Amino acid sequence: MTSAPVRFDFSGASVFVAGGTSGINLGIARRFAEAGAKVAVMSRSQDKVDAAVAILKEAGAGAAAGFAADVRDSDAVDAALKAAAEAHGPFNAVVSGAAGNFPAPAADLSPNGFKSVMDIDVLGTFHVMKAAYAYAEKPGAAFINISAPQTFAPMQMQAHVCAAKAGVDMITRVLAMEWGPEGVRVNSIVPGPIKDTEGMDRLAPGDELKEMIVETVPLKRFGGAEEVGDAALFLASPAAAYISGVVLPVDGGWSLSGAGVSTEKIIAYFKGA
Ligand code: COA
Ligand code: NAP
Repeated sequence: MTSAPVRFDFSGASVFVAGGTSGINLGIARRFAEAGAKVAVMSRSQDKVDAAVAILKEAGAGAAAGFAADVRDSDAVDAALKAAAEAHGPFNAVVSGAAGNFPAPAADLSPNGFKSVMDIDVLGTFHVMKAAYAYAEKPGAAFINISAPQTFAPMQMQAHVCAAKAGVDMITRVLAMEWGPEGVRVNSIVPGPIKDTEGMDRLAPGDELKEMIVETVPLKRFGGAEEVGDAALFLASPAAAYISGVVLPVDGGWSLSGAGVSTEKIIAYFKGA
């Protein structure tokens, strides 16, 4: 057990988690469900959506709903958030966490590969935030964008993701300024390396690379999705009522030094040298 029990009560609250059907985002959605919220999730795969809704009901959600949509499709995103707000009430919290990632050296990355990550992360965040604003409780709503250490730390084979997550966090900061006067808070969470996730499996496949990564974490362990969920509960709660526009690492101290892996070593690893 790495994380404390839920300390926040979200009974009656309406929460939407974009990309909330697996990994870290499902961990966040689950924490809100355990705290009694009415939770809606959205991602592309209907099967993943259905499975996530079942998990959220089991976890104690006041109500659970799911929508299949791609964050790159603004009309589909708007329709999903509108339907969720009609079912559960205006949003008290919205989490935007859909993202795409794969390791690729810039010289070998196609323009469309770069664009696919920019579209999912940056344009997708914009679509989710715009719809969140339209259907949110004002004043009082809290929006949380899920960023990544690539927002601070340049990383080899991650030009597309570094550019995208820096863009996500600038959306956070600008919206915190634009929507603050209406009582809407906007923050980012930067998860560090989180165990048993698609992201870690893509960036650190195999035990050897995972051990190299964990050595670079000051707390000397991977985080858990539930620990990122606890940070999201805090940021969405009245305990964070005066916090807006922050980019909060939940990373065991990892952002202090970055991955610290040499270019030769990381490229050789992925090329199988
Ligand atoms: N290396 C280099 N380029 C890659 C790649 C890789 N591993 N994977 C995909 N691409 C390129 C494709 O070749 C394509 O470019 P092209 O048309 O010039 O050939 C482009 O990216 C889009 O690929 P496509 O498979 O059509 O994209 P998609 O929209 O179906 O999926 C991805 C988006 C590529 C980001 C996919 O990995 C995804 O859906 N990821 C979501 C889950 C995830 O990444 N989780 C971890 C979050 S941290
Ligand atoms: P994951 O399990 O792949 O989660 C991604 C989620 O987004 C899934 O629910 C996926 O479902 C959905 N999604 C992907 N593309 C989408 C699209 N175009 N439209 C709608 N939904 C889409 O990955 P994860 O590793 O947990 O990562 C979750 C978040 O944490 C990401 O923002 C990532 O950048 C961030 N992060 C992860 C780590 C880590 O250690 N894993 C570290 C730092 C930051 P579908 O496939 O059904 O669409």
